[in-house]
Amino acid sequence: MAQIIDGKAVSADVKEEVAAEAAQLKEEHGLKVGLAVVIVGNDPASKVYVNNKKKACEAVGFKSFEYALDENTTQEQLLDLVNVLNRDETVNGILVQLPLPKHIDEKAIINAISPDKDVDAFHPVNVGKIMIGEYSFLPCTPAGVMRLIESTGVDITGKQCVVIGRSNIVGKPQAMLLLQKNGTVTVCHSKTKNLKEICLSADILVVAIGRAKFITGDMIKEGAVVIDVGMDRNENGKLCGDVDFESAEKKAGYITPVPGGVGPMTIAMLMKNTLTAAKQQAGIE
Ligand code: GUN
Repeated sequence: MAQIIDGKAVSADVKEEVAAEAAQLKEEHGLKVGLAVVIVGNDPASKVYVNNKKKACEAVGFKSFEYALDENTTQEQLLDLVNVLNRDETVNGILVQLPLPKHIDEKAIINAISPDKDVDAFHPVNVGKIMIGEYSFLPCTPAGVMRLIESTGVDITGKQCVVIGRSNIVGKPQAMLLLQKNGTVTVCHSKTKNLKEICLSADILVVAIGRAKFITGDMIKEGAVVIDVGMDRNENGKLCGDVDFESAEKKAGYITPVPGGVGPMTIAMLMKNTLTAAKQQAGIE
């Protein structure tokens, strides 16, 4: 039976570290860290995320600036706001919640965010820095996954690491981070032919494909570390992951649950990135 990786506990540790540093920044430098979160339209899931980000800011002692814009906001209006936030010295991090309404070009918005304030690490400059291992910010979800793997005590060096999913936000950067930690990395996706065989070779398996219970116990190597990035709904509409937890936990050595695994880590890493941004902008460290 696998040991459960407790994402809530690990994320609480990260937030505690961030809160302590934020308090120190305030005391020693008179700086209050600020994060601006911009949401356009009425997507209910986005509203939940944005609200959680606001609560996390309060918990670690950051100032949060919230911009809830109308569904009909034009691309120019959103670009104008991003430019104002780029220039605002009290704003250290800028996050524009995705997805954006269809009439707005997401790439144009991401490219407009100052790379120094891009706490999502979605800007091409930050993506490029990850490729060469010289980054300031890591995208929040893959960074959270790395921290969860670290919490198991399993050393990545020399391990077979399999990432399922190749999105720009999770799969691709995840593969790079595992590679930087000396893993031997394979990236699989919807067109991969011998998926089961590749999964069975994985000492560390990160699943981010967005299909409910896609990975089952028979695809998991005995004792593997299994990280489930999925946020899906099962046949009864209940939240579940990309991994079939029930069969997988019988094979894995360590496994993340959904909810309570990767999910809480993403926001904790966002807080960490925002703190890093504030320190860099102030020339501290
Ligand atoms: N929508 C869902 N997750 C995220 C995220 O991590 N960042 C942004 N900007 N939008 C999202």
